[in-house]
Amino acid sequence: MVFGIKYQNGILSLIWFHGNLFERPPDAAIMYDAGVIRRATIHDLPEIIKLEQKCFHTNSAYTPKQLLYLITRANSNCLLQQLNHSIQGSIIVLYKQGSEVAGIETISVDPHCRGQGIGKRLLGAAEKDMIYRGIQKIRLEVSIGNFPAIQLYQKSGFRITTILKDYYTYEKYGSHDAYRMIRELTT
Ligand SMILES: CC(C)(COP(=O)(O)OP(=O)(O)OC[C@H]1O[C@@H](n2cnc3c(N)ncnc32)[C@H](O)[C@@H]1OP(=O)(O)O)[C@@H](O)C(=O)NCCC(=O)NCCS
Repeated sequence: MVFGIKYQNGILSLIWFHGNLFERPPDAAIMYDAGVIRRATIHDLPEIIKLEQKCFHTNSAYTPKQLLYLITRANSNCLLQQLNHSIQGSIIVLYKQGSEVAGIETISVDPHCRGQGIGKRLLGAAEKDMIYRGIQKIRLEVSIGNFPAIQLYQKSGFRITTILKDYYTYEKYGSHDAYRMIRELTT
């Protein structure tokens, strides 16, 4: 295993290259040929807001206030895929105190960077952190019309367990059903 030290946003972190990620502490950044996956900080908020607005319709995007909460105050893990100075994707996982189940709250990849495996890598990196924290099961909800996201999840080992009628409701745009999807980390 080869490792180095990275200094960014005032944070010194150890970086493992091509090593066993299971051994890394949860705060370490993961470096790939095509960029780095690292934990988000408050300084990333403006870029995360821009990414959210590019990836979701106004009715379903998180507001800046909600994103601020998710990144800084929730029991969460927010990871970013960064290439040079540009944020290409993000994932937010929510943990519950004392629970062995974690939830994928949101994942987004810049429309110009899709289809390059970034979504899959973000999910994989988030999963390492969940395993490190003893999580047994990952849960998420996805609109039944969101084909790219369903593909990503199924190809990453998730299976559909339930159809949730009218799960997403919008004042002006009606409602949409969702799938609940689960991935067991023990199998
Ligand atoms: C869903 C999303 C994150 C996928 O990101 P991505 O980086 O393009 O996904 P990846 O390149 O890692 O693809 C992962 C797998 O899904 C498949 N996939 C992704 N998008 C696809 C599409 N539009 N059609 C068919 N398959 C697709 C890929 O082929 C790949 O499969 P493979 O491993 O067999 O090659 C991205 O489309 C996105 O940001 N969408 C808008 C936000 C959103 O809806 N988030 C989900 C909220 S629940």
